[in-house]
Amino acid sequence: MRKLTAISLFSGCGGFDFGAAQAGIEFLWANDIDPVAGSAYRSIFPDVDFHVGDVCDVRSFPKADVLIGCYPCTGFSLGARRRWKDRAERDLTAIKGNFLYLEFLRVLAQSTPKYFFVENVRGMISAKQGWFFEQQLQGFRDSGYTVHHKLLYAPDYGLPQSRQRVFLVGIRNDIARDFSYQFLTPTHGPGRAHPYQTLRDAIGDMPLWPTGEFLDQKFHGHYLTRNRKRGWDEQSFTIVANASHVPLHPQGSPMTFVEKDKWQLNGDANRRLSWRECARLQGLPDRIAPSGSLLDCYRVVGNAVPPPFGKALLTPVIRFENT
Ligand SMILES: C[S@@+](CC[C@H](N)C(=O)[O-])C[C@H]1O[C@@H](n2cnc3c(N)ncnc32)[C@H](O)[C@@H]1O
Repeated sequence: MRKLTAISLFSGCGGFDFGAAQAGIEFLWANDIDPVAGSAYRSIFPDVDFHVGDVCDVRSFPKADVLIGCYPCTGFSLGARRRWKDRAERDLTAIKGNFLYLEFLRVLAQSTPKYFFVENVRGMISAKQGWFFEQQLQGFRDSGYTVHHKLLYAPDYGLPQSRQRVFLVGIRNDIARDFSYQFLTPTHGPGRAHPYQTLRDAIGDMPLWPTGEFLDQKFHGHYLTRNRKRGWDEQSFTIVANASHVPLHPQGSPMTFVEKDKWQLNGDANRRLSWRECARLQGLPDRIAPSGSLLDCYRVVGNAVPPPFGKALLTPVIRFENT
């Protein structure tokens, strides 16, 4: 099988890259500004040349077949939009996001990969009435790429977490003449090859009270404005980077609805998922070992793009390259 090489920007702990590697991609170089993400990346990929630092300060990038760059888009997530207090704060966040997307274009121009992959939060498509998303698409087209995009639902690809993300796939125009990229057909769910995976499948074998591995802190008012507990036979709520917002472990009694924006905890078996359980629910390998505080571990794990997305997105490319 022909191996494709890749470089990875904003690589975090290497979630997307781990899935892409499972599909057959060989990583040469990766970069992130966060040293804890770097330590986690190295625990998954000890042989990849990982550079810790601001991408804006990197002057030259290796050539590779594939460029992966899930630039941060927290400013466009629905949660962040709810948190925006005023217009100035919102605009500042948008400018920062725009800036990092321009960095991605700079690397694209230098590395000229055959394929590139980007992940965005769902809110990115509608932010500023779609203007920002269209800016990105135009930037990629002007760089000589045909771009496809789709909103994907993680359980459809075997992840026990109801996470939705938008993915952009760029195919260099000389390759796109012979290759029309099609997103992989979902593999899991009713009527498909495999059933949806559940919380039980992912974390049923782990200790119920892993002392020191979960944030044992009061549940603040905002936390109790919605249901935070899914049952063992369901998919987890979305795993997030902020430890205090992480969903509850499925053990014990479910939460009950009181009134609009008010939910109640029941019984005494109520704790947040541990960072290791979050890692499982993100599809990360158990060998992941971030060196940092408990909150650092939650952050790098919650920031990850789940590997099943990486595998599903790279599979059509690997198939094309090997036909
Ligand atoms: C969505 S996370 C990436 C997830 C990762 N791609 C994965 O597959 O698991 C975005 C990452 O961008 C990094 N980042 C933010 N600003 C950066 C910068 N200026 N230079 C390099 N990395 C940056 C953050 O530290 C964070 O790890």
